[in-house]
Amino acid sequence: MSDESPKAPSLTSVSLEDPHLQPYAKHPGRAEALAAAAMVIGFLGFIGFGITYWLSDQTQWEAATLGGGMLALGAGVIAWGKYLMAQGPFVEERHEFHSTEAERDAMTAAIVERGGMVVQRRKVLGGLFALGSTAMGVVIAFPLIRSLGPKPATSRQATNTDTSLFATNWKKNSQLVTADGRIVKVADLGVGGVLTVFPKGYEGSSPDQTILIRLAQIGPNDPPFQLESPGRTDWGVQGYVAYSKMCTHLGCPVGLYQKLTQQLVCPCHQSIFNVASGCVPEFGPAPRPLPQLPLKVDAFGNLQSQSGYQQAVGPGFWERP
Ligand code: FES
Repeated sequence: MSDESPKAPSLTSVSLEDPHLQPYAKHPGRAEALAAAAMVIGFLGFIGFGITYWLSDQTQWEAATLGGGMLALGAGVIAWGKYLMAQGPFVEERHEFHSTEAERDAMTAAIVERGGMVVQRRKVLGGLFALGSTAMGVVIAFPLIRSLGPKPATSRQATNTDTSLFATNWKKNSQLVTADGRIVKVADLGVGGVLTVFPKGYEGSSPDQTILIRLAQIGPNDPPFQLESPGRTDWGVQGYVAYSKMCTHLGCPVGLYQKLTQQLVCPCHQSIFNVASGCVPEFGPAPRPLPQLPLKVDAFGNLQSQSGYQQAVGPGFWERP
């Protein structure tokens, strides 16, 4: 009797004729062309999204191109899996459950080889899928990058742009104007009135947006308007005060004014600022007071700034001192 153990069957020689590798589709060529067309449409959709994102703010086109790209790429992958892969069911005769180490190695090698062959046989689809998913990965990063906001360090020198958080366009003697460019006069607001204002020439600029509030009715001959904030007692004028409208938490526009309590409320996360005492935060996540703009009135009754903001406006950022 021979003590030689039986040789393990080789499972590594896989052929393309193997029934386990036959595609489900009756016409694999047509199915492959269909899947390829869907993937090409997906790729073009992602490229279209990238171009639309950088060149315009057309959110409906961004949604259409990105959504269409994902839909088409997904359809291509589904068509590949459904029509070009073997679908089974396959029946194998029951065999001994125990297998030798050599058989297990052979099986592992066969599975790896088989998977590789399935992909290799559809090289074009594999390439198109890689191309589409790479394009999707790249263009999806665009919104992430742009959401980081303006670059405070580089825009610090460019004080004539509307992108600086360190230095806004408010200067000494800047004229207060509304968003449509109308000059703001001291008689414009009654007590409790609020108005969003900008420095003349920079209407609509985000970092410059400022909320003007009339806290009290004080005439030019009345005693000067006194603010509670130390060192800023003359920053208000004739009952007016002005603060940056960019919330110090995450930059939302702080535009809700409660006349009775003289508080400004940020609508995003409900930070509450005390207007009469320097807009210090009294509630909510805002970590700092809203920066205040010193005001004055010129000889024609127009409101002007005494100077620009004396600290960076808006939320914290990594280069903020
Ligand atoms: S952005 Fe104002 S509280 Fe969050």
